[in-house]
Amino acid sequence: MGGLSSAAAQNGLLFGTAVCTSDVLAQPLTRAILRDCSIVTPEYEMKWDAVCPNPGFPDYSAADELVSFALANALAVHGHTLWWHESVPPALRTEPEKRFREAAMDHLQATVTRYAGRLHSWDVVNEPLEPADGRADSLRETPFLSAFGPGYIETAFHQASLLDPAAILVLNEMGLEYASPAAEDKRRQMLALLEREKSRGTPIACLGIQSHLTALEQPRNHPELRTFLREVRAMGLTVMITELDVSDHLCPRDRRRRDAIVADTYRAYLDLVLEETEVLAVSTWRLSDDRTWLNGFRPRPDGAPQRPLLYDRAIRRKPAWHEVEHALSKERQPGSDEAPP
Ligand code: G3I
Repeated sequence: MGGLSSAAAQNGLLFGTAVCTSDVLAQPLTRAILRDCSIVTPEYEMKWDAVCPNPGFPDYSAADELVSFALANALAVHGHTLWWHESVPPALRTEPEKRFREAAMDHLQATVTRYAGRLHSWDVVNEPLEPADGRADSLRETPFLSAFGPGYIETAFHQASLLDPAAILVLNEMGLEYASPAAEDKRRQMLALLEREKSRGTPIACLGIQSHLTALEQPRNHPELRTFLREVRAMGLTVMITELDVSDHLCPRDRRRRDAIVADTYRAYLDLVLEETEVLAVSTWRLSDDRTWLNGFRPRPDGAPQRPLLYDRAIRRKPAWHEVEHALSKERQPGSDEAPP
């Protein structure tokens, strides 16, 4: 260990990033991963559509390679993700509900069994909420909801818990971090969902907060987020920051200014989260700028490549790396009980 994983360990948490098999072959990046990380998340290759492009013929070779690389280097693995509406194999998207149910359950059981006892944690269900879909429970309209009903979350977590009792089971969600009425509504709906699932005995241990942030939009302080995190902690749930990155599409083009604004966003966000709740791990969504998903999802108006992460495209540390290290290693007082400022 060294670098960010050491900094994180000072506060009893893990630091990691999302990786692909191609990363573990790229020497400079691999060295940075091994220096900085104590946990890794397969960015794509453990997903249902990656494992089963052709239903009935699963191919776990890439996921196996990532798990082997991690375990050979004493890195924990965060499994990502078992049931997610965006990673259903294309051939199954139009199948009748009974066939979909069987295929989804087969995939979950086979995948959890395959890695049982070797993973730190699993994103069992990813992005279950979508208030805009108009349901009273704000569940997103997905093939899982159609095929299993609203109990699909309970079903998935119970099955995963039976097949891998050692893994920390995570409900992972996007858009809980922002300062908007929609995000506040989603936070309220998430708390209601967690309460419902808890009352059913669904074995959710941890809330995954994806944390895809936008520089100049993410507020430095954020009382509503503080309150939310305290309520999650009061429910006895831990938190994982699962997909942290900071889009710079609103920032000026000047690299030094952009990098400084991004670095400050990382620092302020992690200070807030680490103050308010019990975080098991902080993971960025890739470590270096060179292949960030944001260039496709949030291209900068000026066409310049995004600089959202901790290392630049030449695998050199950026100001954000230093701000993250500072936040991870900072001595923390457990969140006090008075109302947030
Ligand atoms: O590598 C294959 C290639 O062999 C194949 O020919 C081609 C055919 O489409 O696909 C290539 O895989 C792509 C993969 O990324 C690896 O680059 C997939 O098309 C592409 O859909 C996939 O995108 C990933 C996306 O999730 C969908 O799985 C992104 O890398 C990944 O960053 C993104 O991550 C998601 C999280 O899982 C959930 N939270 C949001 C986050 C951002 O969308």
